[in-house]
Amino acid sequence: MQGAGATESQWADEDVLARQYVDDRNLAARQRLWRISRSEPEFDFNRWSVELLSPSPGSVVLDAGCGNGRPLSLLRETGCTAVGVDASLGMLGTAVAPPATVGDVQALPFATGAFDAAAAFMMLYHVPDRRAAAAELRRVVRSGGVVVATTASSDNQPELRDMVEAAVGGDWVWTRPSESHFSLEGGADILGSAFDSVEVTRAPERQVFVTDAEAMADYVASTEDHYAHSLPPGRQWSEVVDAVRSATSEAIADHGALVLTARFGALVCR
Ligand SMILES: C[S@@+](CC[C@H](N)C(=O)[O-])C[C@H]1O[C@@H](n2cnc3c(N)ncnc32)[C@H](O)[C@@H]1O
Repeated sequence: MQGAGATESQWADEDVLARQYVDDRNLAARQRLWRISRSEPEFDFNRWSVELLSPSPGSVVLDAGCGNGRPLSLLRETGCTAVGVDASLGMLGTAVAPPATVGDVQALPFATGAFDAAAAFMMLYHVPDRRAAAAELRRVVRSGGVVVATTASSDNQPELRDMVEAAVGGDWVWTRPSESHFSLEGGADILGSAFDSVEVTRAPERQVFVTDAEAMADYVASTEDHYAHSLPPGRQWSEVVDAVRSATSEAIADHGALVLTARFGALVCR
């Protein structure tokens, strides 16, 4: 096998993560594709995720790995007191809904039982010790409170996986973090180490219609930090990005859109 996508160290390596999340450029490129692409059925994954926390005016909710603050701002709209924490200071500088603080989900800088609920949205696959993170999320939420972790299914966007693997060629495998580190299918085992119950809830499966080849290319380019090292010798990630751009343009010309099947969901822990 020429390469096997990202290794454990690439997903959790401090230097790689520091580059990937030095600010919100990479995250924003991925968010943009979702924002500008029509989906059937129409569905707002961030809003759905936030609702699983049952936030209410007066409740106090933690958003761990809050990134540039999209879910955080939705939480604040509910009238709850929402607190963000993220490992990246640069990312927090871009947050649309401050205040938030720098911190590591594996050693949260909060008192035991300080929150009514906590979120770990699309972030646990970046954490080296996910069981320690689960224990910390359990610790900072009061007894009876809920912790919601979101991630992708290991079969998310198979069309994009096929496109990227075809672009690299040979038997190179695009191993995404939700396949290898923290998936909807495998996450319950990890979270079960800290919680009495973990319920897997799938968001409605969506067809996402990509009609902007440049946005699709930007999305794939944004993941370079995690995959470039694993390419066969002499291959560059920019070639993969160019091939994805061309294949997307072709799909748009032939069928009106590149259609991706989005499979995401949540693990609801108590
Ligand atoms: C894919 S982004 C998700 C952002 C946000 N939760 C969302 O759903 O839009 C992952 C975020 O997790 C943060 N992160 C990674 N490892 C972390 C850790 N150990 N503790 C706290 N945050 C971390 C990154 O800095 C990044 O902002």
